[in-house]
Amino acid sequence: MYRIKSQIDTSSDAFRNNKKLFEELLEEYRNRTKDTVNGANPRAVEKHKKRGKLLARERINLLVDPSTPFLELSTMAAYGSYENQFPSAGIITGIGVIQGRETIIIANDATVKGGTYIKETIRKHVRAQEIAMENHLPCVYMVDSGGVFLPEQAKVFPDRFDFGRFFYNQARMSAAGIPQISIVMGSCTAGGAYVPAMSDETIIVKEQGTIFIGGPPLVKAATGEEVSAEELGGADVHTSISGVADHMADDDRHALSICRNIFETLEHKEKQELDIAEIEEPYYDPTELYGIAPVDLKKAVDAREIIARMVDGSRFQEFKARYAPTIVTGFARIMGFPVGIIANNGVLFSETALKGAHFVELCTARKIPIIFLQNITGFIVGKEYERKGIARDGAKFVHAVANANVPKFTVVFGGSFGAGNYAMAGRAYDPRLLMMWPNSKISVMGGEQASDVLIQVKMDQLKARGQEMPQEDIDKLKKSILEKYEYEGSAYYSTSRLWDDGIIDPVDTRNVLAMGIAMSLNKKWEETKYGIFRM
Ligand code: COA
Repeated sequence: MYRIKSQIDTSSDAFRNNKKLFEELLEEYRNRTKDTVNGANPRAVEKHKKRGKLLARERINLLVDPSTPFLELSTMAAYGSYENQFPSAGIITGIGVIQGRETIIIANDATVKGGTYIKETIRKHVRAQEIAMENHLPCVYMVDSGGVFLPEQAKVFPDRFDFGRFFYNQARMSAAGIPQISIVMGSCTAGGAYVPAMSDETIIVKEQGTIFIGGPPLVKAATGEEVSAEELGGADVHTSISGVADHMADDDRHALSICRNIFETLEHKEKQELDIAEIEEPYYDPTELYGIAPVDLKKAVDAREIIARMVDGSRFQEFKARYAPTIVTGFARIMGFPVGIIANNGVLFSETALKGAHFVELCTARKIPIIFLQNITGFIVGKEYERKGIARDGAKFVHAVANANVPKFTVVFGGSFGAGNYAMAGRAYDPRLLMMWPNSKISVMGGEQASDVLIQVKMDQLKARGQEMPQEDIDKLKKSILEKYEYEGSAYYSTSRLWDDGIIDPVDTRNVLAMGIAMSLNKKWEETKYGIFRM
């Protein structure tokens, strides 16, 4: 495979200025992440530690194999909402390796409002289970939660993907042979009691873990019976009398080691085959991405320069290099795994969509995962293009992407606007992971375009009534729309609402994608069958 020949002059002012601006964004991202990770109320943390309990992230670090990475998902869920009272939405989810197996870990953070669930907590929990189902990854639940955050009950209780979905997913996964293991390390109340009860195997920590359908105050109110939490549903009761749990642990560390022992007994299933090569570091330094990544989305960035700093040896077998230049397609390797890459290099035209669809077919026929690198303003508009059938050709690309049954991974490295988001495997197209860079933006269209459209609509309305829109009103409307789009289009707004799986430092993109591909090998990929392409 040929090495990409970079055209970037790293000593140029343009490179240096971009790098400076990007590093400011990166610092903001790191500070916000740090504030989130350390965001719990210090009094709650102290109380938690005094009980002899480890913090959620400490528990995870002890559960995973030493010196293996933990890919934390949606760290900044609920960021900027609820007066930042729910750092990480009170739950830590991610992919870690236990006894050599990629595993989904879901850990309540009891230092955040007793580990209770708001809408974003539910989304994180369900999203992690979806990843487990799609990739056949065992699940470990570290339960330490007061259940539903009661003031928000209407937003978390009754709907299809609300609290009840946890147990449905557990039942379906267990039936599909995906191991479900719970470690009860604190409270596990009401509906939450079903997490350990629905698990294949459950550990409970002595004098810390409790499982009950109704806690002592509810029992007293309902029946008048006075009972302590320990007597009602402590570790001793559940491991010797009720049988709701299977193993009693002395403390958190002991519980984690029992969980690791359980993993030694799990069945090893056949994996998806993939031709894996030796890992080669990129020839071009990935930190150069800071000088190249689009901070100003108006400036064009050659996607090959991004690819060169992401793939093994900076080698890229480009496909249709001379045709439809606003999309770059080709094969490469990431940490030894073969990948097909589809990267935006400008607006989508008919021929761009056809090239994209053709390349998706190549990847599905050859059983190669696809990486979508999004920096897309959308599909081309105008009379000429409509007449040539841009909607028909765009639909072919969307068809191909939607039906491609090889693992898809999406990284938004610039803008993600309009139907371009869909064609390039946005969230609705079920990429196995979707990550954003800190500079990225996502909305139905850019703020400028949205304000122009809305002003035009308003002016047409007034014109029909024989009126005109004063310039002052035009300016005011434009300003307010621009501000709204700027705020709602940011990567933080997106990640807070779980539109993605997290924001990452560009330099980590390689590792994150490699982890994603490794996890996707745990379930054999289905054959791809396409529907009717409109010709
Ligand atoms: N809804 C809303 N807030 C809750 C809550 C719930 N279900 N459970 C706990 N909280 C809040 C508390 O008000 C407190 O908030 P604050 O920090 O603003 O004061 C915080 O979570 C911590 O609770 P606290 O009781 O001080 O902590 P703890 O570690 O001693 O106990 C629980 C944690 C979860 C065991 C205990 O709070 C409890 O039993 N909660 C009720 C559980 C329940 O009945 N849930 C049913 C829901 S389906």
